[in-house]
Amino acid sequence: MKAIVITQPGGPEVLQIQEREKPQPAASEVLIKVYAAGVNRPDVFQRKGNYPPPPGAPQDIPGLEVAGIIEQVGQDVTEWKPGDAVCALLAGGGYAEYALTEAGHCLPVPVTFNHYDDAFARAASLPETVFTVWHNVFERGRLQIGEHFLVHGGTSGIGITAIQLAKAAGARVFTTAGSDEKCAACDALGADYSINYKTADFEQQLCDQGIDVILDMVGGDYIPKNLRLLREEGRLVFINTMKGSKVKGADEVDFSLIMRKRLTVTGSTLRNRDRAFKAALAAEIQQKVWPVLESGQFQTVIAATFPLAEAAKAHALMETSDHIGKIILLNQWP
Ligand SMILES: NC(=O)c1ccc[n+]([C@@H]2O[C@H](COP(=O)([O-])OP(=O)(O)OC[C@H]3O[C@@H](n4cnc5c(N)ncnc54)[C@H](OP(=O)(O)O)[C@@H]3O)[C@@H](O)[C@H]2O)c1
Repeated sequence: MKAIVITQPGGPEVLQIQEREKPQPAASEVLIKVYAAGVNRPDVFQRKGNYPPPPGAPQDIPGLEVAGIIEQVGQDVTEWKPGDAVCALLAGGGYAEYALTEAGHCLPVPVTFNHYDDAFARAASLPETVFTVWHNVFERGRLQIGEHFLVHGGTSGIGITAIQLAKAAGARVFTTAGSDEKCAACDALGADYSINYKTADFEQQLCDQGIDVILDMVGGDYIPKNLRLLREEGRLVFINTMKGSKVKGADEVDFSLIMRKRLTVTGSTLRNRDRAFKAALAAEIQQKVWPVLESGQFQTVIAATFPLAEAAKAHALMETSDHIGKIILLNQWP
């Protein structure tokens, strides 16, 4: 099969097409013929050599999510059969003609997507962000109806998912994003108030709101601001620290805020969690989130599609941060 391989740590140009053996499913796995693969920021970090895949995952083929048709199932798999249309979370290896994953990490392509010509592209945009948002916002962050929720990076793949799932859960949603155009896109997805952090200080803008849950991927100087914005019993959930895991500069972190407001500071990374955890999360998501997706309350937002053969262009676009929503690769080769 053809695959996109990280030939060495570096820029987008290190992503190159190579021929690889078509993988064979182990007893609990399925082999998926990939129709579309989602691009996620962690793929960029992996390409640069900053996010090594966990043991057992494909080491040099990136790709954490795909949608396609099941081609083959392992001997213990009973819930899927060849021909089923699925989207799936992967530990890696999605940028290829075929990909393996655990049967329990697949979900059906939402039935309402069948109305669209690009159903697989839409479905491929879901797993990584839906799994991450569900676990971090609703399980770790325990977001409740009527609470105030702030997500930074509102137009990231994570952000568009978090805005919509939080709105569907009855929260009041605040976002930050890097341009007025991005803020307008967040508003169109249901955000109640979006702040262009390049022209306004989000802490000043939100200081009267009392935020219950913050999903943060930025870190750095956002950390003390986040702690100050949370109201009593608030929850701060980290999924990355793109501006650094340390606070530099004049502002300091006042940990007494955690005691005085009884805050919870938590976070997680999805990729290194074990198979059983991801399978349980998938089952929960099918029960709680799939009905939201199929109700029409949730829009997939695809910023751009590229042939898999042009994965380097997709990474270059992601690194401009100009995109709004998800970047998707289609199984097209020269
Ligand atoms: N922990 C987990 O399990 C997990 C899983 C998936 C993703 N993540 C993390 O979640 C984040 C979003 O992922 P994604 O795939 O949705 O990303 P994405 O679509 O590429 O979006 C990232 C956006 O973040 C904003 N941003 C703010 N500060 C930034 C900075 N210092 N550097 C770069 N971008 C910055 C940019 O938009 P603006 O113009 O608004 O600045 C950028 O477009 C990433 O940090 C990723 O590593 C974590």
